[in-house]
Amino acid sequence: MKGIILAGGAGSRLYPLTLVASKQLQAVYDKPMVYYPLTTLIENGVKEFCLISTPYDLPRFKQLFQNSAAWGITIEYREQAKPAGIAQAFLIADSFIGKDNVTLVLGDNIFYGGDAFGRTFEAFNGGATIFGYQVNDPERYGVVEFDADGQAISLEEKPRNPKSKFAVPGLYIYDNEVVAITKALKPSARGALEITDVNIEYLKAGKLRVSKLSRGFAWLDAGTSTSLHEASAYIQTIEKRQGIKIGCPEEAAFRRGFISLQQFDSLIKQVPNCEYREYLERVAAEALSK
Ligand code: G1P
Repeated sequence: MKGIILAGGAGSRLYPLTLVASKQLQAVYDKPMVYYPLTTLIENGVKEFCLISTPYDLPRFKQLFQNSAAWGITIEYREQAKPAGIAQAFLIADSFIGKDNVTLVLGDNIFYGGDAFGRTFEAFNGGATIFGYQVNDPERYGVVEFDADGQAISLEEKPRNPKSKFAVPGLYIYDNEVVAITKALKPSARGALEITDVNIEYLKAGKLRVSKLSRGFAWLDAGTSTSLHEASAYIQTIEKRQGIKIGCPEEAAFRRGFISLQQFDSLIKQVPNCEYREYLERVAAEALSK
């Protein structure tokens, strides 16, 4: 399974924060925002990534992930010259995807709790799998409607009158058909290749699975200065309470077996003395004592 991280867009709702650094590079408590979705995919076994961003921001992502080879993953970088919709990612990453299945995560989506994704990734055997998560403000998102049996029956992008309270989070899993489906797609009224239109094609073909995320699961939005602050507070609360870190790619790569304890130890030595390093050292020490 290949992984695409889409980290484009102007981030205008976070102005002036985004004048010099893109939204996905902003701090969510103690890490850059993009660390969280990257870690979610690593936790689910994805090793090969394509990171898509604007020509302006791409060099900063390269800088941020300069040591990522030591995490046992590969990252290719591709430009999205103009924001023309989330689904454009499949055209930009066409040669990266090749003949594989692919998961796409939005660089500003933060997930935490349970292993809802784990089971879904393991069970994936074709078609498309997306998720549904109950929110208070579904009109801001892609919205999925279910029938009485829990089957998805409609999908709409930012509807004025949502048919349900279930929003579709920015993590999607597709078989290789997604590239051909996107190539045949017409841009929406706002001139974008909509991810919701891709999902509608799978729904029409009877190949869409929508998995409901349980209420104990957290899907955080960090797209406005208020929600960014709230996301930081949430992460800080859990990290402090549990003595763990959320969104730590080095730890996830080690726990997933991408790297050995020895490799983990040597990458820790490259990290400057700080709280983050102390945490990684603790993870390594705990693994050694087992
Ligand atoms: C995008 C998608 C939307 C999805 C959301 C998740 O919206 O178009 O369907 O629910 O991401 O974050 P955007 O946040 O780009 O407006």
